[in-house]
Amino acid sequence: MHRRRGRTGSAPGTELRAAAARVVHAVRVDGRSLTASLADAAHDIPERDQALLQELCYGTLRLLPRLEALLAILLSRPLRRADRILNALMAVGLYQLVSTRIPAHAAVAATVDATRALDRPRAAGLVNAALRRFQREREALLKQVGNDPADPALMPAWLRDRLAAAWPEHWRRIIAVSNQRPPMTLRVNATREDRAAYADALAAAGIAARGLSGLDAALLLDKPVPAQRLPGFAGGLVSVQDAGAQCAALLLDPQPGERVLDACAAPGNKTAHLLEHAGGRLQLTAVDIDAERLAPLRENLLRLGLTAQVLAADARDASADWPGAPYDAILLDAPCSATGVIRRHPDIKYLRRDADIAALAATQDALLAALWPLLRPGGRLLYATCSVLPEENQARVAAFLAAHPDAQLREVALPAGAGAALPVDPGVQLLPTADGGDGFYFALMERVA
Ligand SMILES: C[S@@+](CC[C@H](N)C(=O)[O-])C[C@H]1O[C@@H](n2cnc3c(N)ncnc32)[C@H](O)[C@@H]1O
Repeated sequence: MHRRRGRTGSAPGTELRAAAARVVHAVRVDGRSLTASLADAAHDIPERDQALLQELCYGTLRLLPRLEALLAILLSRPLRRADRILNALMAVGLYQLVSTRIPAHAAVAATVDATRALDRPRAAGLVNAALRRFQREREALLKQVGNDPADPALMPAWLRDRLAAAWPEHWRRIIAVSNQRPPMTLRVNATREDRAAYADALAAAGIAARGLSGLDAALLLDKPVPAQRLPGFAGGLVSVQDAGAQCAALLLDPQPGERVLDACAAPGNKTAHLLEHAGGRLQLTAVDIDAERLAPLRENLLRLGLTAQVLAADARDASADWPGAPYDAILLDAPCSATGVIRRHPDIKYLRRDADIAALAATQDALLAALWPLLRPGGRLLYATCSVLPEENQARVAAFLAAHPDAQLREVALPAGAGAALPVDPGVQLLPTADGGDGFYFALMERVA
């Protein structure tokens, strides 16, 4: 067969497949985060190919347990340790054949040629044979490994068990949604633009979107687009933020002039929303332990025309000397397992361990205890996580309420547009839904005198 070849003599898209394989290998074998390894790999890939690189990395990691099961059948014996990058490459190859519309011949040619870019030219025959056998036996092989997005085998066993125990009626749907591409939701910057006017601007740019009930700044896109294509993005008219995440500012409901602490703030999506919600007129202090993550927070605020005091500090050592203390309102968007946002961070499935949950719970307890005294009597604290595990959510808040008689739970109702909200005791849980919000937990507490 005659193939069109690139300047290097390789099939088009070869470097892209090699880059995707490096990213998948970095996550799977070296335990690096997807965001960091993708940012490294993206340097060498032209702008026009970035979206495809992202799709191949995210998609392969979403389905990796199934792709690895296919490889175990397709390879007569496991690869040498030093050649494990080829597993990642073949997984990227299989992902294209299983789940994308890339023509099979182009996907196979570029993936086979990527062996050279990965310094494994002698493996070209092996990769070619595996992918071609998959094409020939596709139906039978998919039957053997399963083709259901709700397949429990797509989750690590420890997480599957925790989900099944916590959500006996919902856990299969949580798994299915966690392995799908997420929707893209925007938050219109209310200090600069109203939602209807921005929806018109989107329509004029050929981007279809609809509003979400009860979420006054949100627009759900019919199809995701790169943020740079959004009208007025660079000028701060709009941000990308999930519908569930947009509930935080609505529930805390900061009013103009209030003193507000965002205690785990980076990269600042909720900080910005808190400010936009109050017309930009808050005395807001944004704290995060990770000074590096505060750089994008500052950039976000600058782009959106918003201001806050920004502080790199450990909120477990929260101090009454922090700017603005005592506060009228505190948002504690706590570090967590992120099990409600796996569809946006599929590396969580490989990086998190069962033992992390107890360690996270201890940090969450310490954060709640340290921040509470910074709230003025009558003030309110919103505890939020993007976890769907009760150990990080209602168990933490129940323990906190039991130990703090001056903390009273406030009832909250989530907007219908955020998706599937379930009352739990105490608090409210959003489970991720296909075209709704991510998984989030919220509990609002008031400090009584
Ligand atoms: C869920 S993320 C926050 C997301 C952010 N609120 C947003 O909407 O963009 C949790 C953040 O908590 C920070 N963090 C973890 N432990 C912390 C601590 N002890 N003190 C302050 N921040 C902490 C992490 O660095 C991370 O940025």
